[in-house]
Amino acid sequence: MKANRFNSWIKENLNQIKQSNLHRELVEISSSMTPEIVINKKIYYQFASNNYLGLTTDAKITNSVISAIKKYGNGTGGSRLVTGTSNLHSKLESDIAKFKKTDDAIVFSSGYLASIGTISSIMNKDDIIFSDELNHACLIDGARLSRSKIVIYKHSNMKDLESKLKKFKTSNGKKMIISDSVFSMDGDIAPLDSIVKLSKKYECISMIDEAHATGILGDTGSGASEMFGVQDKIDICMGTLSKAIGSVGGYIAGSSDLIDYLKNRARSFIFDTSLPAGALTASIRAIKLIERQPSIRDDLNNNIQYIQDFLASSSFNYLKSVTPIIPIVVGDEEKALECSRFLLKNQIYVPAVRPPSVPKGQSRIRVTLMATHKKKHIDKIIKVMENLEKIIN
Ligand SMILES: Cc1ncc(COP(=O)(O)O)c(C=O)c1O
Repeated sequence: MKANRFNSWIKENLNQIKQSNLHRELVEISSSMTPEIVINKKIYYQFASNNYLGLTTDAKITNSVISAIKKYGNGTGGSRLVTGTSNLHSKLESDIAKFKKTDDAIVFSSGYLASIGTISSIMNKDDIIFSDELNHACLIDGARLSRSKIVIYKHSNMKDLESKLKKFKTSNGKKMIISDSVFSMDGDIAPLDSIVKLSKKYECISMIDEAHATGILGDTGSGASEMFGVQDKIDICMGTLSKAIGSVGGYIAGSSDLIDYLKNRARSFIFDTSLPAGALTASIRAIKLIERQPSIRDDLNNNIQYIQDFLASSSFNYLKSVTPIIPIVVGDEEKALECSRFLLKNQIYVPAVRPPSVPKGQSRIRVTLMATHKKKHIDKIIKVMENLEKIIN
């Protein structure tokens, strides 16, 4: 394409995005990710982070990270199979396996890479993937990359899933069911017990994304699989280290053979520079803290309950959840943007979530809570939302 044709193609597409109220811009934050953040030199109370337990700024973890960087340096200078595996990688992987109660685990540079590398190395064009309609993009993109046939079932609807499984019962290829355990835009929890039962009945591989459940759900915080008591029944348990764990990276937990296979076949593991010591140390320390101090989730759960009580007495169309993700659905994109602007004007940062992150007509503001939000932060958002309620209704 000639340069001027390419430039006008880009401009035209950008205009289309803008006209549909779907244009996104980066918001520059010049502070750490605590409940109070700085944007353009002004302090805002934020309800938008996945740093659910506040561990990105835990002082003890930060001190360990500094020591690790001093010892190991800033980067690893290589992919895992060349020079990029340190004893910290091995330690984190064995800690994750213990945390998830699986034989073994493998760490990728992100949850997204863990998902796409895993699905595409196991499934191929002769196979079928059954996917919840609200799954995160990393599962969707992994399924697309695998070139398998993708069968989408209605959100957490086990009747629909079973009818689709029946339809393809006699097909010869491998079959896989993929689902988030906590859905990122709705905050609800997938029925993992039923998903596991159906996967056994119809001989499917089960793969669950615990991104928003890791550190949050289950008695030891290991995830929704622990909450449902199905840790040993899920074939592939995936998650991220970037949300409640407060660091960066992604993991797959499962059988020793699965992990060995991924080390040999997952392209996003093999052809990618490994995580540096600082990130690994932050994850190792955070998992230890979560396991040893279950009370760390009490403050978060109290905050969730506090805001849920307010919403129950309001006229907002919110989705009830026991997780820190609380969506308030307003409908069209412009209205969601208006709500977000109103909140921002009143010192509250909650971005609008619009397609393609959510289906068209279901744009929303997505409030997320942290254990470190104090009463003053939550009382402030409640007060502002009471005023917002008068405006949008
Ligand atoms: C449900 C879900 N899965 C996976 C990911 C990707 O994880 P990561 O940010 O580590 O790539 C995210 C979000 O980022 C997510 O919300």
